[in-house]
Amino acid sequence: MGGRNPVKELFGELADGTEIHRWSLENGGTRLKVLSYGGIVQSLEIPDREGRYANVCLGFDTVEDYVASSPYFGALIGRFGNRVDKGRFTLDGTSYELSVNDGENSLHGGREGFDRTVWDIEAFTRDSDVGLRLHRTSADGEMGYPGTLRTTVTYTLTEGGDWRIDYEATTDKATVVNLTNHVYWNLGGEGTGTIEDHELRIAASRYTPTDPGLIPTGELASVDGTPFDFREAKPIGRDIRAGHAQLIRAKGFDHNWVLDKGITAEPEHVATLRDPHSGRTLKIASNEPGLQFYSGNFLDGTLTGTGGHTYRQGDALCLETQHFPDSPNHPSFPSATLRPGQTYRSTTIHSFAS
Ligand code: BGC
Repeated sequence: MGGRNPVKELFGELADGTEIHRWSLENGGTRLKVLSYGGIVQSLEIPDREGRYANVCLGFDTVEDYVASSPYFGALIGRFGNRVDKGRFTLDGTSYELSVNDGENSLHGGREGFDRTVWDIEAFTRDSDVGLRLHRTSADGEMGYPGTLRTTVTYTLTEGGDWRIDYEATTDKATVVNLTNHVYWNLGGEGTGTIEDHELRIAASRYTPTDPGLIPTGELASVDGTPFDFREAKPIGRDIRAGHAQLIRAKGFDHNWVLDKGITAEPEHVATLRDPHSGRTLKIASNEPGLQFYSGNFLDGTLTGTGGHTYRQGDALCLETQHFPDSPNHPSFPSATLRPGQTYRSTTIHSFAS
């Protein structure tokens, strides 16, 4: 990447003239491109076992494409990852109505979630790390959520080539927070076809089944003897057509796994994804209690990405570290409440090998 790292360039403009920048950074063999729109990871390149680089994330070439219609490609998700039932919850006796954007439910923060906002970005280098700090203040009431939420998300490329995300947020009123990132992975390279051969392991003995609107029923169901058992690595396609009612409902995997480790002070290993063809391997560590595995069920062949290829069902998957979906409405789930004086902290580490 030459002498300067990270490098900032003009990427495009929003309709109102706001400039959107793209930052390119590289460290330890990993190359990352990030947009100030939505904190979007537009591209992440890693080598295969022969040293050949490929971009392993779905994305678009222009700001216009992201604004027009993106199923959250590479984006920062906030204030609340996944669904809140009917966009309603009650906290400390007060009821809140959120922006509804997925049938009758609120998905990924609502109509104008963090994925559709502009972030202030500052670059840094620290010891042998290279990174970006993304800042944004979400006003009290934005998308219906209470409290002014000051958020900093740090993307770091480490000396060893890990991509680490540190989320931090504070509020001035009791609220709920669940931040994540929505990268769509295809370790064969974006636009190269299905991920059904990818082998996935998730360190979870239970998952949260969903109702027809993909809202958790509240049950923590055992994965034992079901297609949801990824405790040993297996190809994603092996059981995806098993005729299980939960898979039919979601058109594939689109569920929250209850990680066996629970909430931890430090990030711990939760999942491994491997493409046997290229050898590229992704390991994820997190301090969160849940992981959403979404097998790209709603990619329907109408979007064409950075490499000029159309994305079809199952052409990528998401692994989103999180608190459980709809937790504001499930007192039995780990609490997603943040109060004044507290700091929300979440860390996800993506490590690569081939
Ligand atoms: C959700 C899916 C949703 C997708 C949006 C995932 O995190 O679990 O249900 O369709 O995001 O593209």
